[in-house]
Amino acid sequence: MTRSSPLASGPSTFTRPRILHPLSLITSLFLISVASAQALTLYTGGTAPTATVAPAASSAAYTGLAAYDPTTLTSPPPPESPVTGLSLALPPNSQSVFDSGRLLSIEQKGNFLGFSVELSIANSLMGNSPANLKVPFLNYMANIQTRAGAGPIIRVGGNSQEDSTIFVDGLEDAAILDKIKVSAGVTDTPVINYSLDLFHLMANITSLVNAEWFFGLAFNETDVTSPTGNIPVAATWAQRILGSSLRGLSVGNEPDLYVDHSKRPAGYGVNDYVSEFNRITQSVLSDGSLSNPVAFTGPSVCCDVIGFEMDDVLNAGWLSNNVNNLAAVAVQHYPTNNCKINGNVINAQDIFADFLNHTSAQSLVAPYLGNAATVQAAGKEMVMLETNTASCGGFPGLSDSFGAAMWMTDYALQMAYGNFSAALMHVGGQNVYYNPFTPPPSNQSTTKQWTTGSVYYATLLVAEAFGQSNVSRIVDMTPTPDVDANNIYHPAYAVYENDAPSRVVLFNYIDDASGANDLSVTLTLNGSTLGASTVYVRYFQAPTVGEQYDITWANQTMGYSFGSDGRLSGTQATVTITCTDGSCVIPVQAPSVAIVFLSEQALSSSTAAQNAKSVFSTSVIGTGSATVDAQALQTSNGQINGNGGSTSKGSSSWGVERIDASRIGGSVIVAMVVAVLALTS
Ligand SMILES: *[C@@H]1O[C@H](CO)[C@@H](O)[C@H](O)[C@H]1NC(C)=O
Ligand SMILES: *[C@@H]1O[C@H](CO)[C@@H](O)[C@H](O)[C@H]1NC(C)=O
Ligand SMILES: *[C@@H]1O[C@H](CO)[C@@H](O)[C@H](O)[C@H]1NC(C)=O
Ligand SMILES: *[C@@H]1O[C@H](CO)[C@@H](O)[C@H](O)[C@H]1NC(C)=O
Ligand SMILES: *[C@@H]1O[C@H](CO)[C@@H](O)[C@H](O)[C@H]1NC(C)=O
Repeated sequence: MTRSSPLASGPSTFTRPRILHPLSLITSLFLISVASAQALTLYTGGTAPTATVAPAASSAAYTGLAAYDPTTLTSPPPPESPVTGLSLALPPNSQSVFDSGRLLSIEQKGNFLGFSVELSIANSLMGNSPANLKVPFLNYMANIQTRAGAGPIIRVGGNSQEDSTIFVDGLEDAAILDKIKVSAGVTDTPVINYSLDLFHLMANITSLVNAEWFFGLAFNETDVTSPTGNIPVAATWAQRILGSSLRGLSVGNEPDLYVDHSKRPAGYGVNDYVSEFNRITQSVLSDGSLSNPVAFTGPSVCCDVIGFEMDDVLNAGWLSNNVNNLAAVAVQHYPTNNCKINGNVINAQDIFADFLNHTSAQSLVAPYLGNAATVQAAGKEMVMLETNTASCGGFPGLSDSFGAAMWMTDYALQMAYGNFSAALMHVGGQNVYYNPFTPPPSNQSTTKQWTTGSVYYATLLVAEAFGQSNVSRIVDMTPTPDVDANNIYHPAYAVYENDAPSRVVLFNYIDDASGANDLSVTLTLNGSTLGASTVYVRYFQAPTVGEQYDITWANQTMGYSFGSDGRLSGTQATVTITCTDGSCVIPVQAPSVAIVFLSEQALSSSTAAQNAKSVFSTSVIGTGSATVDAQALQTSNGQINGNGGSTSKGSSSWGVERIDASRIGGSVIVAMVVAVLALTS
């Protein structure tokens, strides 16, 4: 990368990117009707309701739930000496990437960034029964599936998996999941009882959006050594019901913290974990009836506990001993925490800047590069099973900011570059700040919609960066400091498919409304000109890095708190940039992220709806009696605050059409999948 002369001398002459040529928007609807009186209808297209509920209270006065906290942080000041122009020479093929001293990752899929759902809230997020799915949740998942081709990766587990019991004959109250409170503390993890219907619910979600699952087993040696052991039963049924959509059963959740959390006696260490893991998995293999013995994931260590790090687990022979039964190797990690330690809490404003440069993503992934190589050499996948901005709930104003969403995108792409195969963002309850999406509190579920957290958008960017080919390899092309003094604010990645660059992701972490730090990146193909005379660009934008809700990806938004049904609203916009003599100049304003699609093919492989038809054609749920709860219907139709008023012209004009195959398959199809309930009785 070499630095070129700045595009323009000052803010007054710099033209901010405008939406020039929105590509044709084809609205196609997919109607799946079933024979029974009640049917689940899925369709694409239409305009989602414009979600516009303004923040309720000023942050100073706010005493409500964390998930809706309107606190915003102050942006860090821009660097004193702006860098406004860069030239980025893309190596023309993979060999030239390596020759230039950079590395290309393993092949990645568009579903790389997914979700980790705490077991105890699986029902409130996904549905109360297999026949009663939460439509907004399906919409959030479908947005990924239509972009990535592959369905979203979802982990169900977390601390609450550890004391969980499956009831094969069902629970007394016929629920899929019951929380049994065992102690008085508000934050104490409850004991979870669940029924087979939890797996049926997950299977039914898979039939709609192709979701792939990690599921957390309890970690209880007494259980597997007892004749009535429950864990082998849970493992057997998980495989039986979820089939090939089950990517792995995780065994142990953050065992490096077991002593801290009083789950094991003082002195419990790596060797204890390794033997316990062996005894539990061996007993599941012998006492259960697994259809697939390549079933387990571990060790899910998280927290840099000296003597209990990933290296220690690998050195203890865990990988080689278990290689025949491991589906994936997992770690979990948050960069910081909002736990009160000895009465001290971190002040979010003090650490905001730590999330707003590329050093964060690099330094979070670097410690795992050696482990990832070891895992790859053993023929296994490395997965970040649980992560987010900060443990203990995240931080007000930080975890829900546009800056955090930029960071999450950078961090996910850096993990992909570091040869992880998936990374899952944790979703907690109403009391956390970092959720990618939060359903309304249960006593407001009829009057309010869901709340989209800024980090949700990162899943859309990552899905589009990799697209649907499943052979995307990524390289970190961030300029070195000698060519860009502000390089930490300007990460850049290139994606290669079939030995040629197909997409480029450009960041500008700097918050500077004056325009003085807006960046122009000149893309060229090293040594020759870019094949394309035209490239396509989509922008991820917000007024400031501290913004919580006024956030757009390709001009579409998920709106304000209590204002989302999981669909994007607004018209998707893609900027067409004409290249001159093989140089394409891409404006990247401060702050924003741009994804540059180097060909129409690269663009359509990130957006095409062709796949949606085949995915949804087999999506009639179960026996055809599937329904979605009526509250979800209400929230799907743009009703806000219970006044019954439609909040956008779009919501009143949705017509449900049958699939018209002739309308599918233009050169570029831009479509959105939504799910709504059609109650026909
Ligand atoms: C990732 O894996 C690829 C393929 O094995 C390898 O060439 C590359 O060096 C690895 N990247 C890193 C950062 O180790
Ligand atoms: C572990 O399993 C045993 C035997 O099934 C059971 O009695 C005990 O309650 C379990 N412990 C936990 C913490 O779930
Ligand atoms: C960049 O991020 C790193 C790691 O998060 C942090 O330590 C550093 O202070 C940040 N740099 C600036 C200039 O804010
Ligand atoms: C919902 O329940 C919470 C907690 O019990 C309460 O503080 C709040 O006022 C309730 N809201 C409504 C709209 O009833
Ligand atoms: C979906 O749920 C129904 C129960 O309503 C169940 O009978 C059916 O087996 C489920 N489908 C799958 C694929 O598990």
